[in-house]
Amino acid sequence: MSSSWQRLEAMGLGPLWQRRSLPLPSLLATAPAARSLTATSVSPQVTPPPRPRHAGPVEHPAIQAMPAAAPIAPLVAPTQLPAAGELLPWPELEAAVAACRRCRLCETRTNTVFGRGQPGARWLLVGEAPGENEDRQGLAFVGRAGQLLDSMLAAIGLDSETDVFITNVLKCRPPGNRNPSGDEIAACQNYLLQQIAHLKPTVIVALGRFAAQTLLQNSDSIARLRGKVHHYHDIPLIVSFHPAYLLRNLPDKAKAWQDLVLAQRTQRAIEKPH
Ligand code: URA
Repeated sequence: MSSSWQRLEAMGLGPLWQRRSLPLPSLLATAPAARSLTATSVSPQVTPPPRPRHAGPVEHPAIQAMPAAAPIAPLVAPTQLPAAGELLPWPELEAAVAACRRCRLCETRTNTVFGRGQPGARWLLVGEAPGENEDRQGLAFVGRAGQLLDSMLAAIGLDSETDVFITNVLKCRPPGNRNPSGDEIAACQNYLLQQIAHLKPTVIVALGRFAAQTLLQNSDSIARLRGKVHHYHDIPLIVSFHPAYLLRNLPDKAKAWQDLVLAQRTQRAIEKPH
């Protein structure tokens, strides 16, 4: 069994790929290693930067127009990335999050969750908010969903500790994992913006509808948002499923893998020497 196949098996993709008629198995056959996979089924027209601010997403023809689902993320007026002079140093930013009392979630949290991974990473993954395990341990995506995320990243050759930084829209757990409210998102927004201004990621992956709708300030469904290169403060942003959703909907793991391949292609297109 090839190493790429083993990685896909670890993600739970192996049997799925055998059942599907097109185009994933042929994709695998062209790939000597998962790291160098090219998604023939996902061939976005990646627009090289610079790109006009607020330009629309790059459409992928394979994505069918689907009716928009009811929005789950409240719209919160976006703010700009902090300028260099407004940036807290990374350790102070982390300390500010740990001490934060800007919203009611500070009363029910056990720990704040700043994020995990490499502060110098070129990939930024953004989820919704800490869950129970994350709240207890103070780390992002450490439960079963996090394990799935780590193995999906490994399948495209990324180490979740060294190649990416993983954080959430909210740094505190909403009680009972309820959806975050608009005032909580607004109170937390500057922390994520500060993180982005520090990291200067080449690509952002929004995990799940909540993160996607919050960052993109729209109410579109995941089906509409996937498969396109959006932009968040001029940084390419790819939308994918939340790993917790994937645990309940195994067939969509293959699509999530396509999303990561799209993110990787986007990142490489930007970083390749001209
Ligand atoms: N779900 C999220 O969105 N983030 C986490 O950190 C854990 C679960």
